[in-house]
Parts: sequence; structure tokens; C-alpha cells
Amino acid sequence: MSLQKFDNQYALVTGASGGFGLALARELAPRVGRLRLIARDSSRLAAAADSLRELASGGCRIETRSADLGDAGIVRAEAAEIERDPPGILINNAAAGEMGPFGELDPDHAVRLVTLNALAPLLFARSSLPSMLAAGRGWILNVSSIITSLPSASVAVYASTKGFVDVLGQCLASEVLGSGVVVTTVRPGPMETGFSKAMLRGGGVSKAFGTGLLVVPVERVARIALSALASGRAEVVPGVWPWLASCVGASLPRSIRARVLLRMSRARGALPDAIRSR
Ligand SMILES: NC(=O)c1ccc[n+]([C@@H]2O[C@H](COP(=O)([O-])OP(=O)(O)OC[C@H]3O[C@@H](n4cnc5c(N)ncnc54)[C@H](OP(=O)(O)O)[C@@H]3O)[C@@H](O)[C@H]2O)c1
Repeated sequence: MSLQKFDNQYALVTGASGGFGLALARELAPRVGRLRLIARDSSRLAAAADSLRELASGGCRIETRSADLGDAGIVRAEAAEIERDPPGILINNAAAGEMGPFGELDPDHAVRLVTLNALAPLLFARSSLPSMLAAGRGWILNVSSIITSLPSASVAVYASTKGFVDVLGQCLASEVLGSGVVVTTVRPGPMETGFSKAMLRGGGVSKAFGTGLLVVPVERVARIALSALASGRAEVVPGVWPWLASCVGASLPRSIRARVLLRMSRARGALPDAIRSR
């Protein structure tokens, strides 16, 4: 599916200074008329913007906004800004995760994760949707994860916030049916990004899952996600193996799934000591 529909639109991408967000921005830059990138680190944002300007060869106005979306006050301020100047394409991508036993999690850190991963997508969609509905067109892409079908030990906050984004996307997709607005939820499998390196203690997803089937290149996931958005699909799991893993995970009874996933995580050495030794 061509991305022609996105020509000259204003697109806002959160978490666009690296990883999946930057891959999405790279696909959009040659098409859209204006691209706003949000993340914390201003020097990474500036570098991302420079590379996108080169790609767009002058056809797209690229703006950066340094904001910590783990702070609820800042999320509210950004949401108000979005309401004043709403995008035609909203990509709720920025997220972070934890790796460790839930009972040892720093509560303040948990609140920051919920703010970044769940509150920001909620309020940004809330601020964008009215103008999209009034215009009779608009696109929201929410980035979830196949972890919602494979929720496992040591990532309780991350997995549950991704579940929140997933269900929010399903509800909104149903609510906007027939309005000309599209809400798509993408549920990627493991990708090689800064996030996966941090979650897997520097090893990266290729080391944890093998370089083969389950790990789909981030550029390919971005193309598939935007193509699903352009064609009005409510959800997409990019890649055959991630899709299969997601279907199997979702169909298993929860008690069996919990045991299988714990065993697999143990076998991969992907669990913190406190859980591994039990
Ligand atoms: N990588 C995977 O295996 C995988 C699998 C499934 C789903 N996903 C999803 O894909 C999305 C992107 O993840 P990624 O893998 O590309 O991660 P990444 O490489 O770590 O990139 C995360 C982006 O979000 C920004 N960000 C992080 N914390 C932020 C904060 N507090 N406020 C504002 N921006 C913040 C980062 O920039 P700053 O640090 O400068 O703020 C960066 O631009 C996430 O929604 C993730 O859940 C990833």
C-alpha cells in the first residue's frame, strides 16, 4: 500500500530520536509536509532531524521538541500544545521498560513508566482526535508489542502498559469507524534498538532470540506499520514468526502460558537472579 495519503500532512512522532520511532520518521519524511519529533535528549534529536532533512531534501519542515514524557505535568503541557496545533498523523511510539521482580520495583519509576507508556498516548490521542474527526480524516498509530500476548515475569509494568495502549487502540478504532479517521495498533516482535539492549542487559534481541526468524529489521517493521495505517487496518503484527508467536501466546490458557514463558525465559538466561533461582 502506498503512503501517498500522507503527502503534505503534519505528522507528530514521539520517541523519534532513535530506534523504531526514527525508522517511522524516515519513512514519513519524504512524504509529509511537516514532521515534529519528541524525545528527551536534544542532541540525539538534532542529529535525527539533520538526517531526516537530508532524506526529505527540503520538502518537509522538521521540528524537534525536547520533553520528558515520563513527567505527568510535561505530558499535560504537551497534550495542550497538541490540542492548539493538532497533527494529521499522530504516532504514539515513545516507551521504556523495566526488567526485574515487581516487588523490588521503585514505585516512582513505575509511575514514570505508566506516564510515558500509557498516559502520554492516551492524552495525545485525546488532544488530536477532535480535529481529525472534524476534518473527516486523520491517522493515529499506537505502538504496542507482542508482549501483550506473551506477558511474562520481570516485565509487569512494561507489558501491562503495552496492554493498555493495545486496548485503547481497539476501542478508538471501533469508535472512529466510518469517520475517515484511522486508529492502528502495531504490535512488533523483538527489534534491535536501544530499548531492547537496555531491557536485555546490553545483549540485544539477536543474542536473546537468535538473529533469525523472530527478529524483524526495524526498517521493515516501520514500513509494514505505516502501510497498515495507510490502508486503515486496526492492528498489525509485522513478520510471520512474531505473528505466529502472538497467535499461539494469545490462544494458550493463562496458567499454561505463564509456566511455558517462565521456562523459556529461564532457558534464555533472560531473568533476574531473584526469579531465576526459584
Ligand atoms: N525494541 C523492541 O524489541 C520492541 C518490541 C516491541 C515493541 N517495541 C516498542 O517500540 C517502541 C519504540 O521502542 P524502541 O525499541 O525504538 O526504543 P528506543 O530505541 O529505546 O527508543 C525510544 C525512544 O523514546 C524516547 N524516550 C524514552 N523515554 C522517553 C521519555 N521519558 N520522554 C520522551 N521520550 C522518551 C527515546 O529518546 P530519549 O531517550 O532521548 O528520550 C527514543 O527516542 C516502544 O513503544 C516499544 O514498546 C519495541
